[in-house]
Amino acid sequence: MSVAERLGTEPPGESRTVTLLRERAFAAMERAYAPYSNFRVGAALLATDGSITEGCNVENASFPAGLCAERAAVCAAVARGNRSFDAVVIATEAEEPTPPCGICRQVLEEFSPQMLVMSFTRDGREARWTLDELLPKAFTPHSLDRR
Ligand code: THU
Repeated sequence: MSVAERLGTEPPGESRTVTLLRERAFAAMERAYAPYSNFRVGAALLATDGSITEGCNVENASFPAGLCAERAAVCAAVARGNRSFDAVVIATEAEEPTPPCGICRQVLEEFSPQMLVMSFTRDGREARWTLDELLPKAFTPHSLDRR
C-alpha cells in the first residue's frame, strides 16, 4: 500500500493521521519566528515509525541565516534518530497552499524521495504532491557514486 493510500488521500475527509499532522503543523506555525517576512510556516514530519516532529521557520537579522520550517523539522527529526519519512505537512497563512522551496525539497529528498508532501491553508484548502513530482531527476546520494 502506498503512503498516499495509508494516509487516506481520497476525498472527502482526511485520515486521523493527516488531521493530527495538520494540527501539529499549524501549532508549529504559531511558534514561527518570522519578524522580517511576516510569512509564518509550520511543518509536521511523519516518520515511518509513526513519530511526528515539527519545525517552524526561524528568521534572522542576517537574512540568509534564516531557516525554513521543513528543514528545521528534518534536522530535529534526524537528531531524534529518524531518517525515514512518509509525509510532511506544511501550514501557512497564505491564501493558497504553498509547496516547499527548492532547498527544502532537496533536503527532504536525501531521506525519503517517495514521501508525500501536503500543504494546507487555514481555511482548509490543501494541495498534495509526491516529493518525486516536486523534484524530478534529483541529485541524490547515489549521484555521488561516480566519484
Ligand atoms: N519558508 C519556509 O519556511 N518554507 C518554505 O518552503 C518556503 C519559505 C519561509 C522562509 C522565510 O522565513 C519565509 O518563509 C519567507 O520566505
